Amino acid sequence: MNGIKIKGMGHCVPAQVLTNEDIAQRVETSDDWITSRTGIRQRRHCAAEGHLDLCTGAAQAALERAGVTADQIGVCVVATLAADTIVPSAACALQRTLGLPEDTVCFDLNAACTGFLFALHTVECLLNAASRSYGLVLGCDVLSRLTNWEDRSTCVLFGDGAGAAVVECRTGWPSIGAVLGVHGNESLLFCPGIGSDEPSCIAMEGQAVYKFAVAAIPWCLDQVLEKHHITVDAVDFFVFHQANARILDRVVRKYHIPPEKYGKNIDAYGNTSAASIPILLSELQAQGKLTSGSRVLVVGFGGGLTWGGALVEFA
Ligand code: UT7
Repeated sequence: MNGIKIKGMGHCVPAQVLTNEDIAQRVETSDDWITSRTGIRQRRHCAAEGHLDLCTGAAQAALERAGVTADQIGVCVVATLAADTIVPSAACALQRTLGLPEDTVCFDLNAACTGFLFALHTVECLLNAASRSYGLVLGCDVLSRLTNWEDRSTCVLFGDGAGAAVVECRTGWPSIGAVLGVHGNESLLFCPGIGSDEPSCIAMEGQAVYKFAVAAIPWCLDQVLEKHHITVDAVDFFVFHQANARILDRVVRKYHIPPEKYGKNIDAYGNTSAASIPILLSELQAQGKLTSGSRVLVVGFGGGLTWGGALVEFA
């Protein structure tokens, strides 16, 4: 299989900033509790913007940075669990807002917080059979719509946002070698849908998910290293799903990853679900930390339960 590389990243977040103090006025919590337990200082919530606005903004920024035009895109996959509408999918709506060719394969995919990695793998597979060599991969979630404001253990965690990657597939490029997995579980992280009488609000057994995460990340990381026959030293940068700074710090300590080789922005955005990895990749590219040839080991985990990792190179 021919592999993909990232040509350009982009992201888009809502204008409204919600600080920990703002949340402490709504529920019984404090800036100190949220910061010390999670590393989150603020998050963005949609007020004027919708899911499609975020997707469009992120995709346009990624196309611009990649120097690729809409008519060159052959596949567009949006990883999300909270699009504006069930039909059309966010990807179909994007086909219209971006002016993608009508024979572009466009669909949404739900793998919760691991969605961007599932989408990246899917797009790599599909581009091998596509007539055009560029793909758009998005992670976008508006979890403020699925927040239970009476549950302080979850409402402090989530933020809204979108990140997008323009990827290129070329003969001879190595595959990203994604490792993906699922353990079907409704009790640890759950959000009812249209088949339920319950409101669509996220409920989470925080400590159990924490334990799952600290086991899943090293497992994915080791699998990706093994699949690519490399060691930690051969990786230029590490990007993990931004769910909790304490989880990230544990992994970084375990693998002796120096601070200049990993990214963290949970303080500014909270947990943005499928968007967290592409938003961080986009910021790192904008800061000049990820450039042509950078090899980034990316790991995600979340609801489902799902997990995944891949080695992604910048073109
Ligand atoms: O993206 C999907 C993947 N998600 C994750 O990876 C999240 C993983 N889990 C976590 O990050 C952490 O478990 C949380 C941040 C969600 C919670 O932190 P914790 O240290 O595990 O806290 P806890 O749930 O054990 O709660 C400790 C205490 C409890 O009080 P008592 O029973 O000890 O009196 C909670 O009621 O903290 C209380 N608490 C709060 N206090 C102030 C829970 N939420 C809050 C809050 N403010 N917002």
